[in-house]
Amino acid sequence: MGVMHRWWLDAVLYEVYIRSFADSGHDGVGDLTGVSSRLPHLHELGVDGIWITPFYRSPMADHGYDVADHRDVDPLFGDLAAFDALLTEAHRYGLKVLVDLVPNHSSNAHPAFRAALAAGPGSPERDLYIFRDGHGENGQLPPNNWVSVFGGPAWTRVADGQWYLHLFAPEQPDWDWRHPEVRADHEATVRFWLDHGVDGFRIDVTHGLVKNSVLPDNPQPPAGDIAFFRERAEPHSWDQDGVHEIYQRWRTIVEEYSRHDGRARVLVGETWVADPHRLARYVRPDELHLTFAFALLTAPWSAAAWRTAITDDLAATAEVGAPATWVLANHDVVRPASRYGDGATGLRRARAALLTLLALPGPVFLYQGDELGLPQVDVPPDARQDPVWERSGRQSPGRDGARVPLPWSGLRSPYGFSADAATPWLPQPEGFADLTVDAQASDPMSTLVLVRSALALRRALPALGGGPLRWRDDAAPGCLAFDRPAVGRLPDMPDAPDLTCVMSTTDTDVTLAIPGRLVLASNPVGYDGITLTLPPDTTVWLAPR
Ligand code: NOJ
Repeated sequence: MGVMHRWWLDAVLYEVYIRSFADSGHDGVGDLTGVSSRLPHLHELGVDGIWITPFYRSPMADHGYDVADHRDVDPLFGDLAAFDALLTEAHRYGLKVLVDLVPNHSSNAHPAFRAALAAGPGSPERDLYIFRDGHGENGQLPPNNWVSVFGGPAWTRVADGQWYLHLFAPEQPDWDWRHPEVRADHEATVRFWLDHGVDGFRIDVTHGLVKNSVLPDNPQPPAGDIAFFRERAEPHSWDQDGVHEIYQRWRTIVEEYSRHDGRARVLVGETWVADPHRLARYVRPDELHLTFAFALLTAPWSAAAWRTAITDDLAATAEVGAPATWVLANHDVVRPASRYGDGATGLRRARAALLTLLALPGPVFLYQGDELGLPQVDVPPDARQDPVWERSGRQSPGRDGARVPLPWSGLRSPYGFSADAATPWLPQPEGFADLTVDAQASDPMSTLVLVRSALALRRALPALGGGPLRWRDDAAPGCLAFDRPAVGRLPDMPDAPDLTCVMSTTDTDVTLAIPGRLVLASNPVGYDGITLTLPPDTTVWLAPR
């Protein structure tokens, strides 16, 4: 068999947050058949594949990230036949399909956790999870000072007096990954979905599975709003060396399938580890293929900050021979069109950011609604669903604002998301009428048309593949500029032009001398083929002469 095509090296993948993508029914919650029905949108958008967030059996305490049966579909989202149909249809469009693996914790409704509760302290059933006696005279104090990512203590006490660990909500007890049955069960899950034909996995909380086995106190648990980079404040909970052998094992399984039929599958980690060198250890040649570059997602709107994030991630991943995996948004963070500023400024910056993202070497993940420039929605307090809202003592609004069901068409809610009479699970705001896919498809200046154009060019231009990035030193202050040389990538297109990407994060016009042709711009720019006048918060792609 020839060399397997590692299709992800320059792919653009699209995150489908299933609850909010498309509802084929009337219950106001997105589902698998809804995803199937909207594949033409993704095909037209020009992405290479999708990652679907968890659709497994779950009581939905964390909207599916609390899994009660990892090898079955929750009736809310459909059934296994609907998944198989979606996979077949996606493949017909040439789209890859990644599913989510949630190995750090299960739901408290998982049969293994129920059995552990029933069996009592000291039982072998309890060993699958992390049960401990408490401190204090009567064990009334938690075993250590760890806190949950969602707020409050990371321990919950059960009726017989023991405590169990949950790094997230109490409904999400952490597995004990030292237990061989936990390993075997997850390997069975990996094989189950590979047998169904998936093209890979996005893996939840890759840096969390193994804890310091002594469970010592952490020096300084983070306080305040939900924080994701936590390994410095909580060195005993995250990024333990023991996690790596788990991914080596999964890599072996995935390679086994790929060798068998010649179809390469990909493992993508959700690794919130700030140190780029520690992060790169997850994508060593025998572990995960990819891991998100969250340093860019968390970078402020500043050319200097972006340059640092991009440089660090490229350098660290290059050390282990992996590409950097770019992402600006997902269902856990504030949408870029609001994160980078309010109103028109935020949207302008989000458009510029997307164009720069799509000019970087290596895979890119888009989050649903990015292609529409959707803002973060201010979900009214009484409609909030994210457990973070209550767990934080109503201090943090939580993540609902990034999860509002997509607007597809029409002038009022549900905007084509559900059947007309349905009420979406989170309320959609008034202004969505101007942001629907239909409204944007016919507007040449829309974000949708911009993203479609960028993706078409990314496919067509050899320079925008996985080749090198060279920083330009002639960028004005507040600007980021880099070249993507086309040379050597495609031997049959020796004259393919290089591409230059310039992004301005300043609030004044910037003038640059770059002889060339205009390829694409996130907003109108002035260019006579030599002198480029870049307005504030704008990205431009040029083919230099
Ligand atoms: C990361 C997921 O993206 C998030 O939505 C979830 O709450 C946590 N992991 C816990 O599973």
